[in-house]
Amino acid sequence: MNEVSNETRFLHAIEMGLGAWQWGDRTLWAYGQTHSEKDVREAFEISLGLGIRFVDTAEIYGNGLSERLLGSFLKRTDQPVLVATKFFPMPWRLTRGFLPRALKGSLERLGLDAVDLYQIHWPSPLMSPETMMEGMAECVKQGLARTVGVSNFGHKRMLRAYSTLARRGIPLASNQVHFSLLSREVEKNGTLARCKELGIRLIAYSPLEKGLLTGKYSVENPPPGVRGAHYAEFVKRLPPVIKVLQEVAQNHGKTVSQAALNWTICKGALPIPGAKNARQAEENAGGAGWRMTDDEVAALDAVTDNFRPY
Ligand SMILES: NC(=O)c1ccc[n+]([C@@H]2O[C@H](COP(=O)([O-])OP(=O)(O)OC[C@H]3O[C@@H](n4cnc5c(N)ncnc54)[C@H](OP(=O)(O)O)[C@@H]3O)[C@@H](O)[C@H]2O)c1
Repeated sequence: MNEVSNETRFLHAIEMGLGAWQWGDRTLWAYGQTHSEKDVREAFEISLGLGIRFVDTAEIYGNGLSERLLGSFLKRTDQPVLVATKFFPMPWRLTRGFLPRALKGSLERLGLDAVDLYQIHWPSPLMSPETMMEGMAECVKQGLARTVGVSNFGHKRMLRAYSTLARRGIPLASNQVHFSLLSREVEKNGTLARCKELGIRLIAYSPLEKGLLTGKYSVENPPPGVRGAHYAEFVKRLPPVIKVLQEVAQNHGKTVSQAALNWTICKGALPIPGAKNARQAEENAGGAGWRMTDDEVAALDAVTDNFRPY
């Protein structure tokens, strides 16, 4: 494994974070219907109280509302919080200068002078990883981002980003990818291993598979909205997975959600579960601070081995 750089060491010390897509997003997450500003503020506050200090947002979540809400919550606390946000490569954003410009917009909404981690949300056919990383280097140079990362990058693109930054003496801090018991592609295609080799922190998004791995959804009680159709097949095949999760959880006095999150930690990832309210955030925080056994990890690997990503 490559030596983890001093600048990015803090990310490797974090076991779990908190995802903030739910804060302000009405399309998938029904913000304003299933949860309110008060609910997400309480989710933030209880997370801090339980030692979760890393929050992940993006300029596109709720069209900026997630960043605004997080900014207003940050103002009300004197506890240290590490903030990660993301640049979205919209089709008209074609040159590196768009990155520091977009980040300044995010910083204004967040009420911060700099973020701890600035990430490229998705790769783009219109902007090469090299151009993106030149823009990222500019963000670091201007003191707007402490560290920089990518998201949804396969290992070839990730290596191009890594090398471009390395030429400027900047480490690639992280790659944020879909990783859960039901979406193990990054484990199988070598991205997770490559991240470990290069000292890049793999941040696991949708670690609860958008609620499926909490055990609350079933064929009789499918997830609401578009999640219902998207996950129709997965939901049918879910019972044996939930059964093993229940057994593991019981062995440690934990819940199904906590066991699902702990599995990603055991794999060497940093999960960032999304929470709509204090109850969910409190439960999710209990996914960290312990370890299931290697045999339990192996049992969960075996029961999920033939799930294929959508
Ligand atoms: N980089 C990317 O492209 C990308 C993509 C997706 C997500 N992300 C990031 O990753 C974070 C997490 O991913 P995600 O939000 O997609 O999915 P997730 O964390 O797998 O699932 C979150 C959802 O599960 C349900 N839930 C969470 N905790 C629960 C609990 N303890 N008990 C019962 N239900 C619970 C809630 O929805 P319901 O109550 O409605 O079921 C919640 O909105 C996001 O917030 C975002 O920051 C990044």
